[in-house]
Amino acid sequence: MINKLKVRCQKLTCDIFAKGLSRQAFLNRHDLPRPFFNDTMTNLESEREKTIRDFGEQWTHHQANTGYYASKALLSDLIEPLLDTTEIEGRKVLEIGSGTGRIVGMLVEAGASHIVAVEPSVAFDVLVRNTERHGAKVSCLHQRGDQVPRLNCDLVLSIGVIHHIPQPQPVMEAAWHTLKEGGRCLIWVYGREGNALYLCIAEPLRWLTRRLPVKANDLLAALLYWPALAYARLAQRFPHLPLSGYLTEVFLRFDPAQRRLVILDQINPAWARYCTRAEAEELLSAAGFTGIRSYHRHGYSWTVIGTKSQPTVP
Ligand SMILES: C[S@@+](CC[C@H](N)C(=O)[O-])C[C@H]1O[C@@H](n2cnc3c(N)ncnc32)[C@H](O)[C@@H]1O
Repeated sequence: MINKLKVRCQKLTCDIFAKGLSRQAFLNRHDLPRPFFNDTMTNLESEREKTIRDFGEQWTHHQANTGYYASKALLSDLIEPLLDTTEIEGRKVLEIGSGTGRIVGMLVEAGASHIVAVEPSVAFDVLVRNTERHGAKVSCLHQRGDQVPRLNCDLVLSIGVIHHIPQPQPVMEAAWHTLKEGGRCLIWVYGREGNALYLCIAEPLRWLTRRLPVKANDLLAALLYWPALAYARLAQRFPHLPLSGYLTEVFLRFDPAQRRLVILDQINPAWARYCTRAEAEELLSAAGFTGIRSYHRHGYSWTVIGTKSQPTVP
């Protein structure tokens, strides 16, 4: 009985947080006993910490940012058509979940006036080393996204991060607070739509790999590389195959080490959620953003943008 209630509680919590409800709204809506709720919160917090540790290990093993993988052209692919790279010029940008600083380098190239890079894992040291050549233009914060201070930024970017956070709502709220009025927030997350076939393979595989150390997953990624490459070449020839757009225009433009890293990135982190369009948009709307627009990038992921506009006083 107790176990059943715990499982129900966990399912509801994951679902509700993905939809962006606060802890209080969740409690009000479901009238759940507080001990079970707190237990579930602890589980989510430990998933969050494990995911951060997984990335710390991953980025300590894979530190390099080169070629198309780290290019301004890839930034355009990630953020357009919702945001043009020319709109970054002269802007103060905060990036949540910077990893090794790949996106920071792209933002420097796009002409941002200042970049605040936020990274909670032990890969923070890699981030600092990889970005020190940009001097005072880049500041690094060793924090989680929900701990971001108010910095009066023009733009918040979070690329490939929010779907790895079990409770993303406080992060989205911190993004709202750190922006100046009229500032914009853009996130890129894995999509559920367009990934049905892929998820049939990836979700059972992840059940195992999310429990393995990064060295084992590195080995597995090297093995999976060959079938993935064969499928990518096939999808290049037959554009109607699932994921063809992404594989042809992005994956095959990476060098072999980066392709293996993409595979590792899929199998290694403890937490990864594939969002529907409604869930992705609600992440921003529940935090108070308005004018929300989304784009189904390469038919398998969602880029979403929203604006911080204060409610007008009547
Ligand atoms: C897939 S990596 C993306 C790195 C970078 N944005 C890029 O595209 O190269 C996800 C990053 O999010 C960070 N992360 C995980 N949980 C986070 C949290 N709660 N707050 C901020 N960053 C987090 C991880 O440590 C990791 O570096």
